[in-house]
Amino acid sequence: MVATMTETIDRVPVAAPLRVEEVAGGRRAVDDFETLKSKISVSHLDFFYGKQQALFDNSLEIKENRVTAVIGPSGCGKSTHIRTFNRIYELYRDQRATGEVLFDGRNVLLPGTDLLDLRRRVGMIFQKPSPFPMTVFDNIAYGLKLHYRLGRSELSDRVEDALKRAALWDEVKNKLKEPGLALSGGQQQRLCIARAVAAEPEVILMDEPCSAIDPVGTAKIEELIEELKSSYTIVIVTHNMQQAARVSDFTAFFYEGRMVEFDRTTQIFGNPHERQTEDYITGRFS
Ligand SMILES: Nc1ncnc2c1ncn2[C@@H]1O[C@H](COP(=O)(O)OP(=O)(O)O)[C@@H](O)[C@H]1O
Ligand SMILES: [Mg+2]
Repeated sequence: MVATMTETIDRVPVAAPLRVEEVAGGRRAVDDFETLKSKISVSHLDFFYGKQQALFDNSLEIKENRVTAVIGPSGCGKSTHIRTFNRIYELYRDQRATGEVLFDGRNVLLPGTDLLDLRRRVGMIFQKPSPFPMTVFDNIAYGLKLHYRLGRSELSDRVEDALKRAALWDEVKNKLKEPGLALSGGQQQRLCIARAVAAEPEVILMDEPCSAIDPVGTAKIEELIEELKSSYTIVIVTHNMQQAARVSDFTAFFYEGRMVEFDRTTQIFGNPHERQTEDYITGRFS
């Protein structure tokens, strides 16, 4: 059964093959998993909505300057899991996480974490593009003003820079005073990415960022993810397995609140260890 998926995957360019170098005795991968720095290290993570437990003893390593995809059937806990990374769940009552989410070595779940700073460093992009009801320019400037004191010209430079990083500048440079909500869906999502990027985050979490976007817009966002990873650490939740295979270096498969398997993306889609992973990627359940 895996063969079917492998054939499919072989036809798409799999992102970031391991770099190899010649060494005495043969070739070896330069950026082997073990030698890459973990930007976020999750261990023994449990999550509760009131009394209902949604995550069970999750562990996961998010590698710096790599793209990690989180896949699994609807309701398996993908969003819940990544929402612990910047404690965004705390905006809601009765939601609680226990365990360890080490971000650069510090457990962000502990009391005393500076949440404004954490959420600047760990930005988030949601499923439905959510520009603020203001101009394209102000969508970016708003976030910048929240975190930095900037003069007028520095502010416009930073806005331009963020729009360039989000591969949107050429499309909107003559529309800076138009409402962000007047852009196409794909442009709106890149505007949200620009807004996140403007705050100079270290990690960008994307929760099904393309599921409300047309194929052309999706292709642009996937291309952008490839560019962004040299500067940021990216985690993307996606129910589109082709997308996971195209954009990610590592993939985690979740099922019923548990992290079932985590490996190189090529391994997960080519030769998964766990039966549940294989069943999922071969479409035996969804
Ligand atoms: N606000 C909430 N209140 C109660 N249960 C929730 C809430 N959000 C999600 N859940 C439950 O937590 C589990 C994981 O959900 P979620 O993380 O959204 O899954 P996924 O993103 O993989 O589709 C599901 O069983 C879901 O019903
Ligand atoms: Mg979700």
